[in-house]
Amino acid sequence: MNILVTGGAGFIGSYLVDTLIAQGNKVRIYDNLEPQVHQGHIPDYLNKDAEFIQGDVNNREMLDKALTGIDVIFHEAAMVGVGQSMYEIAKYTNANTMGTAVLLDLVVNKHRDHIRKLVVAASMSEYGEGLYTCQNCGDLKPDLRREIDMKEGDWDPFCSKCKTPLSPKPTPETTPLQCNSIYAINKRDQEDMTLNIGCSFQIPVVALRYFNVFGPRQSLSNPYTGVAAIFMSRLKANHNPVVFEDGKQSRDFVSVHDIVSANIAVMQDDRANYQIFNVGSGSSISIGDLGKLIIKITGSNQTLDINNKYRKGDIRHCFADISKITKTLGWKPQVALEDGLKELIEWSKDKKSEDLFEESQKILKAKGVV
Ligand code: UD1
Repeated sequence: MNILVTGGAGFIGSYLVDTLIAQGNKVRIYDNLEPQVHQGHIPDYLNKDAEFIQGDVNNREMLDKALTGIDVIFHEAAMVGVGQSMYEIAKYTNANTMGTAVLLDLVVNKHRDHIRKLVVAASMSEYGEGLYTCQNCGDLKPDLRREIDMKEGDWDPFCSKCKTPLSPKPTPETTPLQCNSIYAINKRDQEDMTLNIGCSFQIPVVALRYFNVFGPRQSLSNPYTGVAAIFMSRLKANHNPVVFEDGKQSRDFVSVHDIVSANIAVMQDDRANYQIFNVGSGSSISIGDLGKLIIKITGSNQTLDINNKYRKGDIRHCFADISKITKTLGWKPQVALEDGLKELIEWSKDKKSEDLFEESQKILKAKGVV
């Protein structure tokens, strides 16, 4: 098949490209080589057997060319920092929401006859807080946390009826969305627009809500990269990783290889069409424990700095209920967290990295995001 991967030079897209090529597909990459991530260079890991077109998703003419003769599209191109999205509002919305609008516009108006499937990278961030349970009131979705509570260090959401502390539960796709950042709003837009256009024109589409993806090729130069890469960059610089809040906030970390296998599964199976699936590990770890695990694996002498501050737009807990994708397609994650972290750390050993935390903090503080 002829496959287009937007964002195919990125962390997730590039692994997807490798697998698609290994399976015998012809793959075209469309990527703007975002300077914040790639410094404008083609990354050395980019698959030599892929065709590469440099272009922005908002460049209609270039994207039109990139869509020529394509059967399947994986739309991975996006700006990904939750914190950065809170002050680069137009830039994020242009790249994420408008970029998807341009892609869908071209699909509908010029390429409808040959596109057999479109898979869009959506995000767990669309849920806002995940699903919780209250010992008195049962399962519920709490309100987003209030600034005044967080300023007091009251980090955990509570039951709005009986004020009891809540326990997080696996979050299924049916959980109402409650976006808490511009990034999350953008991701919801991408998902909604793709499903709307797919259903309206009978173009098979699938949205995958990725949880916290980690693994090799995660940018070590983008200060808004994910927490695992930021912690590693701190340790490499012999600095303590800095943990926001009290370190007990949790996430569901899923290996990039599992994300790739989920994309392949939905491409190959028509039962996935017009559906939304969570893609996570199905379990959660606190950010404090993640930091300790990374310190243990690297053998570093550093410790964690728990700073009791918070980042606007952050949620407290969310982890995936993966029963829908498992029951529908038989997909299951294969990479255990510790193995995945070892792979990330091994890969990063000979890579240059700066202390990403220092750089992002300067800006986020100046903008009032932390
Ligand atoms: C991440 C992704 C987002 C994706 C979402 C899906 C990145 C940059 N963002 O957002 O694209 O859609 O997962 O779940 O990969 N933290 C620290 N110290 C740090 C950095 C972060 O304590 O130095 C904390 C944050 O406050 C937060 C947690 O770690 O509580 C996770 O942060 P981050 O890795 O940025 O991920 P998300 O915001 O969940």
